[in-house]
Amino acid sequence: MQTTLEIDIRKTENSRIGQVDFDNLPFGRIFSDHMLISDYGNESWKNPHIMPYQDLHLSPANSAIHYGQSIFEGMKAFKSADGRVLLFRPYENFQRFNRSAERMCMPQVSEELFIEGLRTLINLDRDWVPPQEGEALYVRPFMFAMDDYIGIKPSDTYKFMIFTCPVGAYYADPVRVKIETHFTRAVKGGVGFAKAAGNYAASLYPSKMAREQGFHQLIWTDGQEHKFVEESGTMNVIFVINGALRTAPTSETILKGVTRDSVLTIARDWGMEVNESPLEVAELVESLRAGKVSEAFGAGTAATVAPISAIGHEDEVFDLGYSKESALSTKLMTELEAIKRGQIEDRFGWNMVI
Ligand SMILES: Cc1ncc(COP(=O)(O)O)c(C=O)c1O
Repeated sequence: MQTTLEIDIRKTENSRIGQVDFDNLPFGRIFSDHMLISDYGNESWKNPHIMPYQDLHLSPANSAIHYGQSIFEGMKAFKSADGRVLLFRPYENFQRFNRSAERMCMPQVSEELFIEGLRTLINLDRDWVPPQEGEALYVRPFMFAMDDYIGIKPSDTYKFMIFTCPVGAYYADPVRVKIETHFTRAVKGGVGFAKAAGNYAASLYPSKMAREQGFHQLIWTDGQEHKFVEESGTMNVIFVINGALRTAPTSETILKGVTRDSVLTIARDWGMEVNESPLEVAELVESLRAGKVSEAFGAGTAATVAPISAIGHEDEVFDLGYSKESALSTKLMTELEAIKRGQIEDRFGWNMVI
């Protein structure tokens, strides 16, 4: 992409990189040296600049705090063995970001600002991209309202920002999930397809209840009748039923996951049957009882693929007898990670080289 965007860069004079233990990276607590900011006002984005990572000053009347106009994205960059930095499918995140913005009555961000912003920031902090197997640079673009006004209306001013965090290997143990048939994440006509901050706040209490019952996560069902399987907390959910991949189609109540699409694309490329159609809880439970479900796993940027070892529904718990070595999810995860790290050919053209 030809760009005329000028991003003013003020570099830190005190890099913190020497203080980071790259062999022990927690998720989401260590922030790279710089961040990008652009301000919106008078109907345009202005003054894109990069500065040392630091706190923000906000009015107590900031309308994002009170009324929740706040959206975000999440993606990862990897270091290949030959030292290239590869950002995975950023255009998907760009498009999803603008879909979220439209639904939340927030301004669109140009491709130039989003993509060149990512490219410039990640390039500046490229030494923060961990080279170790399993580790990555997590990239967080976000936008929030900036009006200091106590009254419900779309804000006239916003900030678009990006920061990055080196994150450790996500050695997820297989998770126990509960099919949620009381609480609701999203409804038709609502904001489930958007990465809106409030969606995650609303999921905390039901998740806490599930943890108290011995589960790690939820599988959400539709808000109308709790009849159809939708997705998990921060992942889409995929089942292997009778040897074929089965997952709900994305919709206005299900986030269009980049990992979900990548996994399904690889499976199709391998000649596997992939069935994207509404999955009734009753059908899933019947298939579980009949031993037709050989695997279930979540698909999302943080874990890539998170195997599910048990599924709870009302008073029953179905154990899936997960075995890492033979699991299809392990094979899919290995292939996807190898593409992201430039270890095998990027045959779908997913990586952006920084
Ligand atoms: C609600 C929800 N579903 C699914 C996903 C998976 O999406 P992706 O694979 O793009 O990370 C996420 C994470 O972004 C999420 O928050």
